[in-house]
Amino acid sequence: MKTIQVALLGFGTVGSGTFEVIMNRQREQFAHKVGADLVVKTVLVRHPAKYREQIPDQVQLTDDIDQILADEDIDIVVELIGGLEPAKTYILKALAAGKSVVSANKDLIAVAGREIYAAAAKAGKDFMFEAAAMGAIPIVHPLMEGLSANHIEEIVGIMNGTTNYILSKMAEEGWSYDQALAEATRLGYAEADPTADVEGLDAGRKVAILANLAFHCPAVFDDVYIEGITKVTAVDIAYAARFGYVIKLLGIANKQAEGVALRVYPALIDKRHPLASVNDSFNAAFVRGDAVDEAMFYGRGAGKLPTASAVVGDIIDISRNIVCGCEGRLGDSTYESCCFLPIDE
Ligand code: NDP
Ligand code: HSE
Repeated sequence: MKTIQVALLGFGTVGSGTFEVIMNRQREQFAHKVGADLVVKTVLVRHPAKYREQIPDQVQLTDDIDQILADEDIDIVVELIGGLEPAKTYILKALAAGKSVVSANKDLIAVAGREIYAAAAKAGKDFMFEAAAMGAIPIVHPLMEGLSANHIEEIVGIMNGTTNYILSKMAEEGWSYDQALAEATRLGYAEADPTADVEGLDAGRKVAILANLAFHCPAVFDDVYIEGITKVTAVDIAYAARFGYVIKLLGIANKQAEGVALRVYPALIDKRHPLASVNDSFNAAFVRGDAVDEAMFYGRGAGKLPTASAVVGDIIDISRNIVCGCEGRLGDSTYESCCFLPIDE
């Protein structure tokens, strides 16, 4: 039986969760699902000494990307270091070196997604990024595959776990903003710089990523109108509650007469609306299409194992493609029928 070999770039919250999920699955379970064995061969970090005790001796630990790029046995590179660089260079070099790539990197995909999709198509390899939008929730694959029969009209959702955790704890338990943010950081929900969460940038990146897939429009992060939650106070939350509303940070992408409007802002939601009861680090989104009518996606939007669930799902998907000889089967045609320009200021 073939052995699929994986290199993990990054061993923080998501990298260590991905390793744990892979190690906790029995060989037989992967063999059954994939038709191959799956092993983590190498882990890349900046400071290997910090991680030696967490990583078994049979797994190589390195700070040298060239070691991974030159290793012909490595089939899949999983980028979980975050940020624009060196993540982008590592991903492009891995594709050029004949490896398929998985990434959870919203910051990068929201600005350079199309360049990476094109590089993957050119290399005939897969580039998958389910974890880059709404953590554990399968929404990238449904938009590309299960819902692809539709003209998508709208995506509306709670797309950031940290801010939803903060707003939920402030509303339900009377926590202060600072207390809730500190706990969201401790639990591994927040970005390395949580400004990206609380200022709405992270949700904006997810809106841009999903809009590319749903509307085939060339949206990038700068096309999204963004307001975060830093101006929302306990008094706002209390007044909202008195009038039967909760405050949620919404990400919205919808078709309008002139194009596709992309925005993120804190909104009043009627307590009877399904999104009002999405709390803690959970995310949810409604997708409306001309044939499906409405579909709702719900689950953990952040965190170690929930995010690893999406990452390992992509690794398994690519492994199946490797086993059946159909890597790169999606090409970049999915992304190329650009028909709208984002509007909204
Ligand atoms: P962490 O900060 O917890 O971990 C980052 C890891 O990457 C560390 O092991 C770090 O190693 C390594 N690293 C950073 N820079 C480099 C570099 N230049 N070269 C080699 N290794 C490097 O991040 P997370 O695990 O939280 O996030 C990883 C990615 O997943 C990000 O793109 C994030 O946006 C995304 N994501 C995170 C979610 C979450 O819930 N946390 C959910 C969905 C996506 P060292 O310690 O040696 O610097
Ligand atoms: N910081 C992000 C969040 C991680 O809180 O939603 C998942 O994308």
